[in-house]
Amino acid sequence: SPVKLLGISGSLRAGSFSTAVLEALSAALGSNVQMSVFRLNDVALYNQDEDNEHPPAGAAALRAAIAAADGVILASPEYNYGTTGAMKNAIDWGSRPYARGALLGKPALVITSSPGSTGGIRAQAQLRETLSAAGARVVPYPHLAIPGVAEKVKDGVFVDDKTREFVLGGVNALLAEIALIATKAA
Ligand code: FNR
Repeated sequence: SPVKLLGISGSLRAGSFSTAVLEALSAALGSNVQMSVFRLNDVALYNQDEDNEHPPAGAAALRAAIAAADGVILASPEYNYGTTGAMKNAIDWGSRPYARGALLGKPALVITSSPGSTGGIRAQAQLRETLSAAGARVVPYPHLAIPGVAEKVKDGVFVDDKTREFVLGGVNALLAEIALIATKAA
């Protein structure tokens, strides 16, 4: 059966480049991989009072989607040199309940992008650190940062070959991490 990947976009806006990168990636993948994209628009702000038994529906759906995936791909813009509040919030939900979070042991690939020239590298570094705290298995290499994203993705596809190959290389590293875990579990 195909490997199941979950893309999570750190941007809530309809015209998001981050969401477009995930959709372009989904279109570029082979049939051995199945990928769906989760939008964070309906995920409430993390509240520790609601952590265990009764998380709000959006947060519960996020946790279930992460748990059901073999690996996650987080695509985020950079907001003020960090990730977005929406993405940090998603990781916080995915990190709990303590020692039982959906992200614990989960292979995770980080993609940042920006219409500007730095590709969100500061958000990339921050996301890696935060995901490590959640116990995710963050793909160490490559660091997928996409500068000038407005010229790289159009109408739901990569229009730049180098960017497509760069991102697919990251997905291959994620698939290798997933395969490694499957081997250890067998
Ligand atoms: C930005 N933007 C931005 N870009 C960047 O490269 N580094 C940064 O620190 C910031 N900071 C920032 C803060 C806030 C509040 C906004 C709204 C924007 C610009 C950002 O990269 C641009 O708006 C992207 O298009 C946002 O990503 P999506 O929504 O297209 O995925």
